[in-house]
Amino acid sequence: MITACAGGGPPVAVEQADRTAAPVDTTNNNNNNTNNTNTSTESTSTTSSTLAVEVDDESEMSADEPSLSVGDPLFPELGSLDVDVVSYDLRLDVEPGAPTVSGEVDVTVTLRPGLTVLPLDAVGLDIDRVAIDEVVTTSTSTESELLIDLPASVDASSGGPTTVTASIDYTFRTGGRTSAVGLPSGWITSPAGSYVLNEPDGARTWLPSNDHPSDKATWRFEVVVPEGVVVSANGELVERPDAASSGAWVWVADDPMPTYLVQMIVGDYEIVESPPATSVDGSEIPLTHVVPSGDRASFDAAIDGIDEQLRFFEELFGPYPLDRYGLAFVTDLSGLAMETHGRSMFGAGDFDSGRVGFLQELLLAHELAHQWFGNAVSPQAWDDIWLNEAFTTYAQWLWLDHVDLQPLDVHARAMLDLRQRTTESTGEPTVENMFGFERYDGGATVVHALRLTIGDDRFFEVLRRWVSDFGGTSQSTESLIGLVEAVADEDLDEFFDDWLYAGALPDSYPAS
Ligand code: ARG
Ligand code: ZN
Repeated sequence: MITACAGGGPPVAVEQADRTAAPVDTTNNNNNNTNNTNTSTESTSTTSSTLAVEVDDESEMSADEPSLSVGDPLFPELGSLDVDVVSYDLRLDVEPGAPTVSGEVDVTVTLRPGLTVLPLDAVGLDIDRVAIDEVVTTSTSTESELLIDLPASVDASSGGPTTVTASIDYTFRTGGRTSAVGLPSGWITSPAGSYVLNEPDGARTWLPSNDHPSDKATWRFEVVVPEGVVVSANGELVERPDAASSGAWVWVADDPMPTYLVQMIVGDYEIVESPPATSVDGSEIPLTHVVPSGDRASFDAAIDGIDEQLRFFEELFGPYPLDRYGLAFVTDLSGLAMETHGRSMFGAGDFDSGRVGFLQELLLAHELAHQWFGNAVSPQAWDDIWLNEAFTTYAQWLWLDHVDLQPLDVHARAMLDLRQRTTESTGEPTVENMFGFERYDGGATVVHALRLTIGDDRFFEVLRRWVSDFGGTSQSTESLIGLVEAVADEDLDEFFDDWLYAGALPDSYPAS
């Protein structure tokens, strides 16, 4: 209703993220604590006044008009306030190397009462058939939406929210594209097969979905492939074909996650289990990995290092917040990595020396820390991206200091010096720089300054409470600031103005 009404067009692209040189950026000053498990009714009332960037006069729009935006300041065309996805049940038929993939997805959603059209994000998909609760219906596709006509049998006008299942048969073209942030996204083909990179808006190019981090759901993936082809998705592997036959791989992820954290790797790989880790809370953390076929030994050192890194972060941030973990190494993703939910994804080429040195420690620490910061607690909107990248970059600093590869104080000082040369704020990213320096190392200087301002005890209490209070939800920067001020028991407006929202930062850290 919001931005679509205001005519917001898609953002334009730009630069390349370069994590090892100068990572990311972020924040927003939105004021939205709504978590994604709310019904669409709640979301509508809570978020439209706070999250929406351009809420005009809503009365201009018909009550039946579906919302085509959650009001994300950076990606106004993503998501819908009328839709809260409960679950995705996806079936794909994949022939590696083929130019297209066909599939069917059941999207179970809770709808705002009164809705006559169910909007999902979809870009460039060929829609073959759509049904609502098994009643075949019509739909319209625009450049970025699939608009499904709700059959008369759906009584969405009777007061409370209504839950329906939309079944969509569709086909998409493989190969991915360059997203507006300047990075490859979507269904990317590689020598060994394919993988997806969804962050921030790639899922909608291969899956009709409510493609926004504020909407978490449970997932089931069923992927049929030829003999010998391996599939890795999030969650638990519950079914796989016999070694010598084609068939379905079924992965089930009960830990709610948004679209951008989906893992979908298909090709010439092996699934490897290693002995489960034991959490500080005594529970077992199953460890499942993906390695290029026949090449397991190259990745053993990285896999063997998980236990110690996990223990280090659990001491600082609290118990590992998800059901499971693991490492997935895909071919030709060099220099990039992605915190896919419960099984992080790396470029095999960055690890095939078999040695875990500086770069490998950095990447492993960063993506593991994301499971707390980004995955357990996800951003409410994309301008909250510093909540992901600045905190995980800081976690990476802490780990590199711990293993004597990079002294914290020296590095923090160096990054603040580097930060003097940039004038973009950490808290107010643009589409073009959302994965730039001010969100990564530049953003971690803000986190370090916060630590020095409120002291170690309160700082680490904030980190632990962020995850224990908000795990399983999506949260805004405003929500973090609220928690910091509650824990510190002081007004920190000045701190956040000077560090998070300022373009030019102070040239020295606060005295501790
Ligand atoms: N979230 C990733 C990380 O910092 C960065 C992903 C950037 N790439 C992308 N295609 N969006 O760990
Ligand atoms: Zn990251």
